[in-house]
Amino acid sequence: MAAKKKTKVVPLSVGDKTIPPEGAKMIPIYVMGKRYIIPETLTLMKAIEYVGYKYTRGCGCRGGICGACGTFYRFEGDYKLRTGLACQTVAEENMIIAQLPFFPSNRPNYDLENQKGTPHEELRALYPEVFKCVGCGTCTRTCPMDIDVMDYVALMKRGDLRGAAQKSFDCVMCGLCASRCPAQISQFTAAMYVRRVTGKKIFPKAEHLTNRVEEINTGKYAKMHKELAEKGKEELKELYVKREREPDMSEQGKWLPEDKENL
Ligand code: SF4
Ligand code: SF4
Ligand code: FES
Repeated sequence: MAAKKKTKVVPLSVGDKTIPPEGAKMIPIYVMGKRYIIPETLTLMKAIEYVGYKYTRGCGCRGGICGACGTFYRFEGDYKLRTGLACQTVAEENMIIAQLPFFPSNRPNYDLENQKGTPHEELRALYPEVFKCVGCGTCTRTCPMDIDVMDYVALMKRGDLRGAAQKSFDCVMCGLCASRCPAQISQFTAAMYVRRVTGKKIFPKAEHLTNRVEEINTGKYAKMHKELAEKGKEELKELYVKREREPDMSEQGKWLPEDKENL
């Protein structure tokens, strides 16, 4: 029997960008189809940088909020296609990774001030494809935020836009759901429309916000802003640290600061 050929594994060095934890196990991964060796504790984003790529797109907050880093991956020898955010998913042995820097989606123009129909009628006109959902659930299985995307699409179809707005609230707009939809629905941009129209026309108006905007527009805070703008960095830092803060568990809408001069 022929001896198994040994592959010499040489870790890549890319200067001081990522310092692998001491003693970290080195594992193979594939980035854009090429094999690299990385420390096992890195996120996919750090792993991609570690092997020598530099981000100019597809990276934003690095904290799971901006949705810029949607990523597809498979494990070698496994048929299952998986998804995650590159900044939140930890690299594992034999991952085959391709990051999706952008996904083209349906983004029609609309003007919430000048809509003729009901919000549901407008949704049908702007995103007719939403009503072609076949209920396959692929979007829900794809979402890295564990949002039940199929369910919010169903709520949109039924006309429960308020429900759809609430259900889609944690969406980070990564576009992964839309990339796999057999009905070619851009669920996330349709949901953005639904949240906008819900805020504009369905939720009750926030009176206190209207009052505060009015106060700002009439110059109530102009003097305070001017005084703050004239302060130095250190003074501002001190003010910030010493500010009165709402206790973590205070009852919603009940807490008021001692100093009410600027309310
Ligand atoms: S709903 Fe779609 S766009 Fe939003 S986070 Fe989930 S997969 Fe990403
Ligand atoms: S992937 Fe598309 S067709 Fe399937 S449930 Fe989601 S929205 Fe509907
Ligand atoms: S970089 Fe913002 S979610 Fe990953």
